[in-house]
Amino acid sequence: MSNPTTQPEPRLRRIRLVILTAVIAAAGAVAATALLVNISERKQEARNPFYRVVELDDTIEDPAVWGKNFPLQYDDYKRTVDQVRTKYGGSEAVPHTPTEADPRSVVAQSRLEEDPRLKTMWAGYAFAVDFREERGHAYMLDDQTLTERQHVTKQPGTCMHCHGSVYLPYKKLGDGDLIKGFEKMNQMPYMEARKLVEHPVACIDCHDPKTMALRVTRPGFIEGMRALKAGQGVQNYDVNAQATRQEMRSYVCGQCHVEYYFKGPEKRLTYPWAKGLKIDNIMAYYEENGHKDWVHAETGAPALKAQHPEFEMYNQGIHARSGVACADCHMAYKREGAMKISDHHVRSPLLNINRACQTCHKWSEEEMKNRVETLQDRHHALRNTAMDALVDLIHDLKERKLAGASDVELAEARGFQRKAQFYLDFVEAENSNGFHAPQEAARILGESINYSRLGQKALRKQPPVPQQDARKHE
Ligand code: HEC
Ligand code: HEC
Ligand code: HEC
Ligand code: HEC
Ligand code: HEC
Repeated sequence: MSNPTTQPEPRLRRIRLVILTAVIAAAGAVAATALLVNISERKQEARNPFYRVVELDDTIEDPAVWGKNFPLQYDDYKRTVDQVRTKYGGSEAVPHTPTEADPRSVVAQSRLEEDPRLKTMWAGYAFAVDFREERGHAYMLDDQTLTERQHVTKQPGTCMHCHGSVYLPYKKLGDGDLIKGFEKMNQMPYMEARKLVEHPVACIDCHDPKTMALRVTRPGFIEGMRALKAGQGVQNYDVNAQATRQEMRSYVCGQCHVEYYFKGPEKRLTYPWAKGLKIDNIMAYYEENGHKDWVHAETGAPALKAQHPEFEMYNQGIHARSGVACADCHMAYKREGAMKISDHHVRSPLLNINRACQTCHKWSEEEMKNRVETLQDRHHALRNTAMDALVDLIHDLKERKLAGASDVELAEARGFQRKAQFYLDFVEAENSNGFHAPQEAARILGESINYSRLGQKALRKQPPVPQQDARKHE
């Protein structure tokens, strides 16, 4: 007989071992399965992080409808109405008495009042009449419709490209052809085009409704990138097919935050990038095609107006070089419960340093802010010097012109004014106040100051102009 205290029989022991092994294996399997389920749920979540309430397609432009599937992104998107000032950025909510012509009760502060030298720089151009600090995306359509610049010049439908959700209107105008619709709207008077557009930039302008993948819908950017790449030897570049996801996180912003001009009688919106994105390339492009935006009222110089080249300047900076995208700083990730979403409250990152910068930089919030402001203070001082230099050149040119100097005599100095002014305006119109590419901004301002100096020197080379009354007795 077997002793109860002795070891169980080998057969029993084997059975126990088998059972134990089975239990461990089963437990392991359950755990593994749970993990797999978890991972796959997470993946599913990442791919499809929402309850599909409505079926979206390419005919739905109302962001409120998209918002039913993506309420978190939609809520943040609506917050672009907020107006908060930073030292050099953001915007100030200035009360405005609504009139029939302009029903806005709040506008952004006037940049012309802040710095009247801008009026001298833009003499004879619509910008000398009304130019304000930019504010959130929610205002883009109203601010364009109601700017006094609309009364000074007959603006074309081209303006609409960057101030509203034009994807669907273009498609409709072009009978399904985006580019055809773009060409048609460019040639319409602004107020006629305005009637076709309902929303500021909307989900449909940056996202594919089926997959929510990022996409570029703006013909100006699609064609601009094709010209840029062709200049680098890459033919028929297709931004939507060939760009990486990280590039797209900047390209969706580059659709609008760029330098542009209206080409030819068709007023085709064109990004002047065929020679490259740097200011020197862009200047060379305009020198070659002889484009001018207007003739300076005081000096007669064939002048250019630079517009918000954030994309171009960002591309000269260390962050672009390091693969950091516009969205990394301006649409920083944030947690909402278990989900990581992109903050669709697009605004100054200085109002959100924690998420916009400290994910990569270990410095305190205060220190990050100081670094940016130190850089912006230096930038602003240099910008003021360049502005004074330009105003001096304009003053001297104007005097010579009033004294009767001929176009031939003034040509060289006018050429320098054109350049000094475009270089200065390029960093003036760039809205980061130097941050996106500090050293490049300083270089450009240095060039501008030099062009103003060369302009004054060119005037000195001319023989002195005879006095008005001296000539009367000739
Ligand atoms: C490394 C972070 C970073 C990246 C990348 C970046 N920006 Fe900025 N941007 C800033 C900072 C900082 C400011 C200055 C904000 C201020 O002065 O309040 C700024 C300012 C701006 C402003 C003016 C904002 C305001 O409130 O006045 C615009 C517009 C802008 N950036 C657009 C872009 C675009 C478009 C891109 C990509 C092509 C881009 N930024 C890339 C950090 C970044
Ligand atoms: C290539 C895109 C693009 C086109 C085309 C464009 N804008 Fe803008 N506009 C912007 C961006 C980006 C801003 C914000 C940055 C800034 O103000 O510098 C802006 C800002 C503005 C503002 C607010 C700030 C200010 O200047 O007072 C007004 C008004 C405006 N645009 C009017 C117009 C008019 C009128 C046209 C047509 C002549 C036009 N825009 C064409 C992109 C564009
Ligand atoms: C359809 C054109 C368009 C696109 C696309 C676009 N913007 Fe803008 N953005 C504008 C215009 C126009 C304004 C100025 C609106 C106004 O002043 O009424 C503006 C204003 C801004 C401001 C100033 C906000 C403030 O509160 O002062 C920032 C920052 C900005 N944009 C960043 C971006 C970033 C980052 C992207 C890409 C994720 C982007 N924008 C995409 C046209 C555009
Ligand atoms: C100016 C361009 C722009 C507009 C307009 C825009 N988005 Fe986005 N959206 C982005 C960018 C950039 C990302 C980050 C995508 C990535 O990293 O691949 C993003 C990401 C998303 C995502 C993926 C999850 C996340 O948060 O990262 C969803 C969902 C989304 N957006 C919904 C919307 C909805 C809804 C609207 C309209 C209310 C909208 N977006 C408007 C640029 C835009
Ligand atoms: C996705 C990562 C990332 C984010 C987000 C980011 N940075 Fe950076 N930043 C970098 C990298 C990378 C460099 C290059 C220096 C290096 O390699 O250490 C850099 C450099 C800088 C520099 C030095 C600039 C120079 O010219 O040498 C400053 C200042 C700076 N960042 C400020 C900011 C601020 C302010 C923000 C938020 C608005 C920010 N960064 C957001 C990655 C980031």
